[in-house]
Amino acid sequence: MTGKNGNISRRRILRSVTAAAGLAAALPLGPAMAGLLLPTPRQGVGPFYPQTKPLDQDNDLTRVQGRSGRAEGRLIELMGRVFDSAGAAVPDARVEIWQANSQGRYDHLGDRRDVPLDANFQGFGHDITNAAGAYRFRTIEPAPYPASNSWMRPPHIHFAVLSPRYGRFVTQMYFAGNPLNAEDWLLNGISNPKARARLIAAIEPPAPELDPDASVVKFDIVLTPA
Ligand SMILES: [Fe+2]
Repeated sequence: MTGKNGNISRRRILRSVTAAAGLAAALPLGPAMAGLLLPTPRQGVGPFYPQTKPLDQDNDLTRVQGRSGRAEGRLIELMGRVFDSAGAAVPDARVEIWQANSQGRYDHLGDRRDVPLDANFQGFGHDITNAAGAYRFRTIEPAPYPASNSWMRPPHIHFAVLSPRYGRFVTQMYFAGNPLNAEDWLLNGISNPKARARLIAAIEPPAPELDPDASVVKFDIVLTPA
């Protein structure tokens, strides 16, 4: 289906399938459930937060409203929950993501490298956490890109979480197993290894009830007041 109505119905399917599968609710909380959870480290916004938000800014970044094609790249179902440090879910938070495409290019005027854009990739999207604090996106794995002549950024997805109690929380999520992670000074600027590990998410096999072609990536976020 294409067109406005098709996109709306697809969005509804995205959300209801999540609830039925119960995947987001099954996410591990980590070892700290007995006490306060280790907060997710903050990271800078970086230069590529959209100057102008796209017209289509839903939680499926692999399709752009009005176009029939699908974004290039390895599909991922990206999901997780937002908690406070006591382990309570944070509902009704606005979770935004923005990222490079499958060639490492941002749809941003500041990214002037000679690397193609993907017209079918919606490089920014948002979701609202449900009563369990769960969010979900469908997107692609971004490629690495050079931030300077001597610095290759590992694949990462930028996150901003906006909520009345915690304001605007910004960080970046990295992919486990990528060799560039070890050389990235932004990631390794987090000196506590357990805190650093909070930003690194595993790429898990597809969940057939969601999409047999999309890897699953789970990324929980623990907020603390700024
Ligand atoms: Fe980036």
